[in-house]
Amino acid sequence: MAETFSIDNNIAEQEKYKLLVKQLSCLVNKQDRLISNLANVTAVLKQTFQKISWVGFYLYDGQVLYLGPFQGKVACTKIKIGDGVCGQAAKCKKSILVPNVYEFPGHIFCDTDSKSEIVIPVMKNNNLLAVLDLDSNEFNSFNEIDQLYLEQICNILAQEIF
Ligand code: SME
Repeated sequence: MAETFSIDNNIAEQEKYKLLVKQLSCLVNKQDRLISNLANVTAVLKQTFQKISWVGFYLYDGQVLYLGPFQGKVACTKIKIGDGVCGQAAKCKKSILVPNVYEFPGHIFCDTDSKSEIVIPVMKNNNLLAVLDLDSNEFNSFNEIDQLYLEQICNILAQEIF
């Protein structure tokens, strides 16, 4: 199913998210490895939303966040809980929207072209499993709509494949 998965680029962002949420269960498969499933999720997000310059998962091993499947430029391999946007989202177990990364104290620059960011924690039974990180090379790229649907996507992933 993953081979045939694509979303029409001419439709509005919210419609794209709705389709993505609807079709996610066909894209991921419990029988496949977590890494393989997450790799396809990053691919589908990157190919669906042009505004994304980097998208990836940092997985939580009980101590730190380590780099998982991603699409984009090379990135830092480890992030401590509390560090940067990812570490803060992991610590607070809450999504963080960053319209301007220069205004976020402690933001970690993996890519100097990055200007805005959103990080969503992936949680199951209140336990942190990972964070989903999306970057853009434009300011104000992400909003509450992105947050709403990305949280839905992370909840589905937490239930279905972690
Ligand atoms: N900017 C992130 C680090 C990860 S990269 O953006 C891929 C942060 O501040 O946590």
